[in-house]
Amino acid sequence: MFRFAFAPTFAPAFAPAFALTLAAATAAHAVDDGQERGRYLVEQVGMCSDCHSPRDPTGAFIRSKWLTGAPIVVAPKAPMPWADYAPALAGLPGHYTEAQFVNFLQTGLRPDGSQPNPPMPPYRFSGPDAAAVAAYLKSLRAE
Ligand code: HEC
Repeated sequence: MFRFAFAPTFAPAFAPAFALTLAAATAAHAVDDGQERGRYLVEQVGMCSDCHSPRDPTGAFIRSKWLTGAPIVVAPKAPMPWADYAPALAGLPGHYTEAQFVNFLQTGLRPDGSQPNPPMPPYRFSGPDAAAVAAYLKSLRAE
């Protein structure tokens, strides 16, 4: 009973503040360009940098060589196909057009229809997110 008595009193008071918060969030998203979303997806969701960025001997990323390719230093316990190097992504790999790269991020298929070996994950990004990742990677200086 207390909840029902409480809600009508407080809900109208908070509703305008909530609506304002939503409006601010929507506006922030609108000014956020694709590259910034792509950076977020690469660095904090897909974690591409974990494998594709080289590190110094202490294990820290070498920021000047961000996403320029790195050795894979872990191996599976059971025999399986496995790649020991994650290639450069900065500037986009040369054998992809931007459209092919967007398709790769949605299907896991290279331009020739093959798939990379593990530990490269077979991502299934949405179209807009794949385009944002491609835009961000394209904006990075290739080595
Ligand atoms: C767990 C490690 C790992 C993560 C995380 C990872 N990759 Fe990879 N990636 C690899 C490895 C290793 C290869 C090489 C595969 C091979 O040689 O077959 C690769 C290959 C690729 C290729 C090259 C495919 C080709 O044509 O040969 C692209 C493009 C790529 N990754 C993009 C990405 C992107 C974009 C992300 C993040 C959204 C990402 N990778 C995250 C390890 C990783």
